Amino acid sequence: MNSADSSHNSGGRPPQTDFREVFGNELDYPRLGNVTFRRGTLTDNQEALFNEHWPRLGMQLADAPVDIDTWFGRSGHPTIVEIGSGTGTSTAAMAPLEADTNIIAVELYKPGLAKLLGQVVREDIDNIRMIRGDGVEVIYRMFPPESLDGIRVFFPDPWPKARHHKRRIIQSGTLNLFASRLKKGGVLHVATDHADYAEWITELVDAEPSLRFHPWPWPECPQLTDRQVITKFEGKGLDKEHTITEYLWEKI
Ligand SMILES: C[S@@+](CC[C@H](N)C(=O)[O-])C[C@H]1O[C@@H](n2cnc3c(N)ncnc32)[C@H](O)[C@@H]1O
Repeated sequence: MNSADSSHNSGGRPPQTDFREVFGNELDYPRLGNVTFRRGTLTDNQEALFNEHWPRLGMQLADAPVDIDTWFGRSGHPTIVEIGSGTGTSTAAMAPLEADTNIIAVELYKPGLAKLLGQVVREDIDNIRMIRGDGVEVIYRMFPPESLDGIRVFFPDPWPKARHHKRRIIQSGTLNLFASRLKKGGVLHVATDHADYAEWITELVDAEPSLRFHPWPWPECPQLTDRQVITKFEGKGLDKEHTITEYLWEKI
């Protein structure tokens, strides 16, 4: 395993595991390419709030498994990881409706995390925690196999240019990695507003043998699937009259 060095703290290039080598397979994994750890400025208020509450509610990508029970201060609750939570609009809207579930929002973009952190503190939402880092590395390095009840990826960057398709987060290898981290019966939920990305994902729905695809809607899905609000990027897509496509898989 590569070490999760500290370069990503300073806005440098984040650590990138060679998953094919680590897992000894020929599956496809996303390349972050030259995307650096996304910085961005916080307002003075956000900075103060971040400094005060991040040590309790957030952590940085690390090479150690998350002690979920200690972090949430309760044990035996289901845990869902959302990758690319952006500003956390739907994360904060869904969490109170699934108060029994531990929600971990993973994002590269610090101002997005700061916004969610602010909402979590203001609204006293006690079942959300945050990790700053590349979601694929976070899942690989910080969650052991069969430890999660759900993984959500809402409106991932579509990387529309053909030469950038290799950066898309949904690939055969990530489906395999996500499946390995889900418990039996766990759910992977992906949504996109991008027609070409939807075609790409549709081609992959049966790519991972341990994930059973459930066409939308799946009324018996054991988890909340309604985002409650239109997220920032969902709204941008709807403004352009894009169709929203939802994907649900069950770990078997
Ligand atoms: C198009 S936005 C969608 C944000 C949010 N889910 C929404 O619907 O408004 C994609 C988000 O994923 C984040 N992101 C992209 N690649 C990521 C990765 N590998 N790990 C974690 N977050 C990532 C970006 O910083 C961005 O905030």
